[in-house]
Amino acid sequence: MCLARIANRSSFDPGSRRSPLVSTRKRTTPATGGDWWRTYFDAGYLREYEPMFDFAGDRAQVARLMELLELPSGARVLDCPCGQGRHAHLLAEAGFNVDGADYSAPLLAAARTRGTGRTLRYTKADMRRLPPAWTGRFDAVVNLFTSFGFFADPRDDAKTLREFARVLKPGGVLLWHGGDRDGVMAKFLSRDWWTTADGTVVAQERSFDPLSGFLTVESVWRGPKVNEDRTHRIRLYTPTQLADLMRDAGLIVEQAFDAFTEQPVNRRSSEMLLVARKDG
Ligand SMILES: C[S@@+](CC[C@H](N)C(=O)[O-])C[C@H]1O[C@@H](n2cnc3c(N)ncnc32)[C@H](O)[C@@H]1O
Repeated sequence: MCLARIANRSSFDPGSRRSPLVSTRKRTTPATGGDWWRTYFDAGYLREYEPMFDFAGDRAQVARLMELLELPSGARVLDCPCGQGRHAHLLAEAGFNVDGADYSAPLLAAARTRGTGRTLRYTKADMRRLPPAWTGRFDAVVNLFTSFGFFADPRDDAKTLREFARVLKPGGVLLWHGGDRDGVMAKFLSRDWWTTADGTVVAQERSFDPLSGFLTVESVWRGPKVNEDRTHRIRLYTPTQLADLMRDAGLIVEQAFDAFTEQPVNRRSSEMLLVARKDG
């Protein structure tokens, strides 16, 4: 999920100004419960996030991933969760043997429209329970765009990392990209709003609970074709916490970058990219 939007637009922090949509509305849907992720990643998610992506940007990210992976053509890569296959199909095109796994049927359907084949397969799976047959199968696992921290119980995040470790070969690499709690807090933007091409006003209000580490984002959409409220919630980790969690799963962080750049992660990085290697 895009935490850069949450943290990077400090020049556009409306401060005490209140969004006309967020402050006065009555919620039309209840705040989502612990399992919000089961239904959130649907056509509405694609509508919200697809305009942020472009082919050139996805390609540049995959080029950086390949640089970090240093793997030969034909190496086995798991993109989990793969969403609409933004990176998976480019990794396959680059010569890797790729599996994409995701829980969302609509996003997997969107991924398949980008193509499938002998070296690109998609599987519906919960990241906490990947297929048993995948033990020791992959040279690399990529977990991108804050696809982590969704579960109510933090032990499920630890379980997810153990699953990534299980499906990696000894010495295999996990590339983890997502929000960095330190940087998001340093530049926290509690609300903003914008207008999409068809005149829809989108407003977001964000809150953070330091004890659980949950960032809650309430989005309101009002426009000619859509009238919807959506809420999602992500547990944010600092690089230190995540490196500890990974170590407990047998994954040793070797490098940490400021998002997809070559700069090391720093206290104001809103996104980080960790390179972790499986023990052994
Ligand atoms: C923010 S999207 C990112 C997708 C993709 N990595 C990308 O960069 O576009 C998060 C993804 O996590 C998936 N997801 C959420 N909970 C999941 C779970 N328990 N198991 C597997 N996938 C899950 C969603 O369906 C969604 O595709």
